[in-house]
Amino acid sequence: MRTDTTRRQFLAVVPAVLAAPTLLGAAVGCATKQTDAAKGPAVIKPEPTGPRIAIIGCAGRGGENLGDLLGAGASVVALCDVEAGARESGSKRVASAAVYTDLRQLLRDRRKLKLDGVLVSTPDHTHAFPTALALRAGLAAYCEKPLTHTVEESRRILDLARAAGTPTQMGTQIHATDNYRRVVELIQGGAIGRPTSCDCWINKGWCCGPTGPVTEPPKTLDYDLWLGPAQEDPYIANIQPSNWRKYWDYGTGTLGDMGCHMLDLPVWALGLDRARLGKVEVFATVDKVDSVGCPEWTEASWAIPQANGLDPLVLRWFDNGRKSPIAEELGAKDKIDYHGRFTMVFQGTKGWLWANYGEYLITPGALAAEPAPVVTKIASSPGHHREWLDAITAWRSGDSTATNRPMCAFGRSTVLNEIVLTGTVAGRAQRPISYDFAKRSFDGGNPIPHWHPAPRAGWSLENADLDSVLSG
Ligand SMILES: NC(=O)c1ccc[n+]([C@@H]2O[C@H](COP(=O)([O-])OP(=O)(O)OC[C@H]3O[C@@H](n4cnc5c(N)ncnc54)[C@H](O)[C@@H]3O)[C@@H](O)[C@H]2O)c1
Repeated sequence: MRTDTTRRQFLAVVPAVLAAPTLLGAAVGCATKQTDAAKGPAVIKPEPTGPRIAIIGCAGRGGENLGDLLGAGASVVALCDVEAGARESGSKRVASAAVYTDLRQLLRDRRKLKLDGVLVSTPDHTHAFPTALALRAGLAAYCEKPLTHTVEESRRILDLARAAGTPTQMGTQIHATDNYRRVVELIQGGAIGRPTSCDCWINKGWCCGPTGPVTEPPKTLDYDLWLGPAQEDPYIANIQPSNWRKYWDYGTGTLGDMGCHMLDLPVWALGLDRARLGKVEVFATVDKVDSVGCPEWTEASWAIPQANGLDPLVLRWFDNGRKSPIAEELGAKDKIDYHGRFTMVFQGTKGWLWANYGEYLITPGALAAEPAPVVTKIASSPGHHREWLDAITAWRSGDSTATNRPMCAFGRSTVLNEIVLTGTVAGRAQRPISYDFAKRSFDGGNPIPHWHPAPRAGWSLENADLDSVLSG
């Protein structure tokens, strides 16, 4: 019997096979069967064959990432969470996935699991360690925003990513939308003249721990693993899920939570890479400096110097009710609630461009009525998770250029991450600080020594620690 099938023979057979999915499942032997007596015969679903991914942190954003990965065709082969309910809910969605409580064991089992990559959706203070382990092990890495908890970690992750050369992506999925593309095209096409500044604002606040009394951790939670690199401080009621954002030990406040999504657009539109940024003066005011809880509100600014004939630029951030003076002044004049309708404004030598995640507006009206600038269209994204998975597939097949193909690969996203985190540092320092993006260093050393204590033994990002965990 001939076992080979020509392409023509195969195509001739496909429609018939598709019409009879049970036959396809039986023939290729790679399907799962779901039986529901009430609904009739068994349904056969082909197993996804995309890159083999492990998710660390399965509830909250992790649950959304799981859905997005499955939708984009990944094979989710392992789930890791320190909380029993999160592990169960993940398992219900991907029954075939191996389940872990300790991310270190998951990474040790990477060969057994035949992992291609790891997606991290834990709280901010545990982003860098599993991401570093994945990179050190030569795996692809996707990590939620902000990429790291500290500027120092960001620098280390960039070094590890460069050494690994694997596809990476930060979880700033709004970057994949068409509205952001149209705004970048217009700004770069000169629609408002030469840009001079961008203000971003958000009426939201992750303010001020404590969220409750010190208490016993829930029995369903492995609190020691939840702490990870953080100090062995007692459990505070309601700190998780989500509320860890209000504490410097685990979160980064409102600026850290939302800055990577919103400042992403000016960073892209204004071409703010490390060379263009150079040495940036950062200043931030906050309602109260506290070593435990993040501030109720922050106003921050980044003064970007003139460089290679390019104008100086100013970025500003306003959260939790603080208002952009540009939006205030023009809102009163134009009788438009710019603050309520948008979340950012680009100011240029000819006018303004207002934007949020889904729409934009150019003012004054006369400028908007001018013919739109001729722009090079930025191609649509196949989807933020899909960009990463496609890059993994190409990289696995030997295409070394695939590494930096995801639009928020760490080479680019560490810049955005460091812009956001230098704002939190300036808020704590309460004086202007200077950060050299090209050299990746603060002027005069770290402006807030010992702000974040050294990681607990075994949780550092040093090569020796990472290697001992991976080989452990
Ligand atoms: N891209 C986005 O739009 C978006 C939206 C929401 C949250 N986020 C980011 O996602 C991350 C998670 O936020 P969240 O709101 O889902 O938090 P959360 O507290 O609701 O969920 C975190 C999950 O991680 C688990 N976890 C904690 N430590 C762990 C560890 N050491 N190992 C394994 N699992 C661990 C928790 O048990 C929980 O299931 C944050 O960094 C946040 O900034 C991104």
